[in-house]
Amino acid sequence: MQPQKSQVKATLLQNTRIKGDYFCAELLMEAIPQNALPGQFIHVQIPDLNHRVLRRPFSIFNVEEKRLSLLYKVVGEGTKQLSYTSPGKELDIVGPLGRPFSPLPEKSIIVAGGYGCAATYLLAKNAPVKPMVLIGGRTKEDILLKEEYEALGCEVRISTDDGSTGFHGRVTQLLQQVIAGQTWLAACGPIPMLKALAELMPTLNLKGELSLDKAMCCGVGACFACVAKVKDATSPDGWRYARVCAEGPVFKAEELIFA
Ligand SMILES: Cc1cc2nc3c(=O)[nH]c(=O)nc-3n(C[C@H](O)[C@H](O)[C@H](O)COP(=O)(O)OP(=O)(O)OC[C@H]3O[C@@H](n4cnc5c(N)ncnc54)[C@H](O)[C@@H]3O)c2cc1C
Ligand code: FES
Repeated sequence: MQPQKSQVKATLLQNTRIKGDYFCAELLMEAIPQNALPGQFIHVQIPDLNHRVLRRPFSIFNVEEKRLSLLYKVVGEGTKQLSYTSPGKELDIVGPLGRPFSPLPEKSIIVAGGYGCAATYLLAKNAPVKPMVLIGGRTKEDILLKEEYEALGCEVRISTDDGSTGFHGRVTQLLQQVIAGQTWLAACGPIPMLKALAELMPTLNLKGELSLDKAMCCGVGACFACVAKVKDATSPDGWRYARVCAEGPVFKAEELIFA
């Protein structure tokens, strides 16, 4: 059973640029960190964004006692405003939200693209047998958390589309090269990466779960702004729309239908 969600006031402890457009924020709060499971997210009311009332969803990157970390990329008005927010500021947070990843079995591999590596970090941290981790990005500026995964004891491989660091090519090509008997894959990243993985996984005898990144509004299953197509044998067409915020963001790879 998933833990109860809470709405809490959190104090921003740190908000630091890691590199390029990527920032790490650390928040102090009650209730949510203790209940958070790998792959879940929080819904954040960005301070001083008064004309834009919608909360923004971010994966729970790490938790330590009452502290919770986020890793975020500045892509628009909300994340830009968040990057300007100073330590000491109070933020209104709802969470933990969404369906988490299943615990990793022994022979597992994690594939993460861009800030997707934040969604899979707790999964690796909690795994008794550490998975191999593949991190892909467009350039070396998009490769994050390599050292943090290595500090957990994971073997980490890197790919970049432009070859600026690691394997030169897609992370799916790297996966084909390095797979060595793993039977389970967990992944989070851009939709085209997840689509390519979903197609590749059966050919590599991999089962697993993919975490979808969809723009959201309510974040709690009420508005249907975040839907994705999933297989459903009980529906006349064999598929239905699932609300990513409530039924995901983590789905079994084989149940997803990518357009
Ligand atoms: C479950 C979940 C977990 C997430 N975890 C993280 C995370 O750990 N770190 C992180 O940096 N971001 C994460 N995101 C994405 C993040 O929520 C968006 O980048 C953010 O809401 C954009 O807000 P904004 O006001 O800056 O951009 P806006 O001004 O709202 O939009 C700017 C641009 O980004 C696009 N966009 C907005 N939301 C998304 C989205 N969810 N996916 C793809 N494109 C989007 C818009 O279409 C627009 O083109 C997550 C999203 C989901 C659904
Ligand atoms: S964001 Fe409203 S149903 Fe998912």
